[in-house]
Amino acid sequence: MSSMVRLNNVSKKFPTGAFALEDVSFDIEKGEFVFLVGPTGAGKTTVFKLIIRETLPTTGEIVVDNLDIIKLASGKIPHLRKKIGVVFQDLKLLMDRTIFENIILPLEISGIEPVFAAKLVEETMEKVGIAEHRDKFPIQLSGGELQKVAIARALTLDPEILLADEPTGNLDQATTMEIVKLLDEINKKGTTVIMATHNEDAIKTLSEKRVIILKKGRLADANKKEAKANVDNLEKKSDNITKNKKKDSPAGPKEEKKDEDF
Ligand SMILES: Nc1ncnc2c1ncn2[C@@H]1O[C@H](COP(=O)(O)OP(=O)(O)O)[C@@H](O)[C@H]1O
Ligand SMILES: [Mg+2]
Repeated sequence: MSSMVRLNNVSKKFPTGAFALEDVSFDIEKGEFVFLVGPTGAGKTTVFKLIIRETLPTTGEIVVDNLDIIKLASGKIPHLRKKIGVVFQDLKLLMDRTIFENIILPLEISGIEPVFAAKLVEETMEKVGIAEHRDKFPIQLSGGELQKVAIARALTLDPEILLADEPTGNLDQATTMEIVKLLDEINKKGTTVIMATHNEDAIKTLSEKRVIILKKGRLADANKKEAKANVDNLEKKSDNITKNKKKDSPAGPKEEKKDEDF
């Protein structure tokens, strides 16, 4: 199995001095469905902004589908973003455009041939179950339907990863289940899905899925144990590889020990 999204000791500090994330590590495998859970302010949206390289971490390493996000040349950012569909917390739908026009807009911007783009949009609207709303305006749709529009817009280019930021935030229980099941179907067709939520109902709907818990920008203890187990495993493996090799001498100057007890 291969890694799709990996964060290694990632911290994000703002100029104000506030930390959005502190020493966060996790690994999400290709094809996995993971809930990213935590109360408001826990750092969920920041994790997504880092994954799409909207922002850079203060320290740490981020690898998305084998691309080292931090070293990624800015010219390669569109290549990264094509792999990722995002359902934004505030949806970012344009109120003066129809559902069809909203979904096709990113395709138009990326210069996709219009007839082909229209075909992709029609197919995706069908898949997500909103074809009947094609020519309506956002104000005519319910909250759940609008979520589906945003999901459709994120899926037109068949991304490797779907990031859904609190897609059930303002929905009742039945609609929450419907949206989570839709994301599950998308995942079953091969897309890696990360859903940020603080909604217990959403998690219960798919109780067998992995949950990554953030609290005030830090991983909850259960996740830390899991991450540590992974690191220990890796260290064991590399020990086995190196144990018969001659040890290199330390590269840097030897540390003075005299300041240790202060
Ligand atoms: N641009 C920013 N400048 C300063 N602080 C920020 C900024 N963006 C987010 N934060 C802070 O980082 C923390 C995590 O925010 P966020 O990732 O949006 O959390 P969540 O999505 O879990 O609600 C919050 O305390 C928030 O106020
Ligand atoms: Mg958020």
